[in-house]
Amino acid sequence: MRSISVIGAGTMGNGIAHVMALHGYDVNLIDKNESALKKAMQTIEKNLERQVQKNVINNIQKETTLANIHCSQDISSAVASSDLIIEAVTEVASVKKEIFKLVDQSAPPNCILASNTSSISISELANATTRPGKVIGMHFMNPVPVMKLVEIIEGHAGSKETTQTIVELTHSIGKIPCVVKDAPGFISNRVLMPMINEAVLALQEGISDAKTIDEIMKLGMAHPMGPLQLADYIGLDVCHNILSILEDGFDNAKYHPADLLTEKVAAGKLGVKTGEGFYKY
Ligand code: 3HC
Repeated sequence: MRSISVIGAGTMGNGIAHVMALHGYDVNLIDKNESALKKAMQTIEKNLERQVQKNVINNIQKETTLANIHCSQDISSAVASSDLIIEAVTEVASVKKEIFKLVDQSAPPNCILASNTSSISISELANATTRPGKVIGMHFMNPVPVMKLVEIIEGHAGSKETTQTIVELTHSIGKIPCVVKDAPGFISNRVLMPMINEAVLALQEGISDAKTIDEIMKLGMAHPMGPLQLADYIGLDVCHNILSILEDGFDNAKYHPADLLTEKVAAGKLGVKTGEGFYKY
């Protein structure tokens, strides 16, 4: 495996391109929006420089990494000689399915199609293609250059050979693969989101303030960020969306998003990206 296409130049897409290129893969970073590509390259440059300053990499590795990334606005031509495509676009099933249909037509028959989805069924995405055995989930964590985990999700029709290839690739980029079956929220968000929701419920009920709730989880449970700060970092709209997918997928009201979370999202207070969530930035 040499050539990897990453579709979507947002936070996750640029992080994935960064890590793949740093480990010597030839990366096509694809986004229909030129300014998103430009911004992504600036972010990658900044994060590589951060790694140079911390002596994690040297200047030559930084320059080689940047040279390994090629930006493109045309999906069909960019994926034509890819060994692996990783889709990291917006978390909307219909948008992802359209992309899977399109790349299925343009990518070589042996190319594996992966999605960085945090909650959408991999089996459903696989059904949009003519190669369900070669469709898999690669759920990276934010910030991608730092977090060790890649949650690997096997669709119902996924082949063991595809899983094995992706497990080996994950090791080759210095990350740890954890393989799970396709189910709502997989494991990571099925466990994480109810914790975040419970913290929001506690805040909403006035049991304590945001800072104290976060301090309890940081100091008592050794979490690097408290649940409310983490929710702001992930994006409150993203958390709300994943909780709704869990509620629908399991048909269980225990996952229902807390009213306070719904109110914040309705008010456009989405966390770090909008300057306010449970905290002000
Ligand atoms: N690129 C490269 N390096 C980065 C980076 C980036 N984008 N962001 C941070 N770093 C590096 C820093 O340089 C620093 O390196 P050092 O340890 O060598 O000094 C290290 O990471 C720590 O960064 P900071 O000193 O700036 O700040 P913190 O110590 O507060 O750590 C954090 C920041 C790594 C984000 C930490 O707070 C953390 O681990 N938070 C939890 C993150 C988490 O849970 N992510 C998963 C979210 S869930 C998800 O993504 C799934 C989705 O489906 C919802």
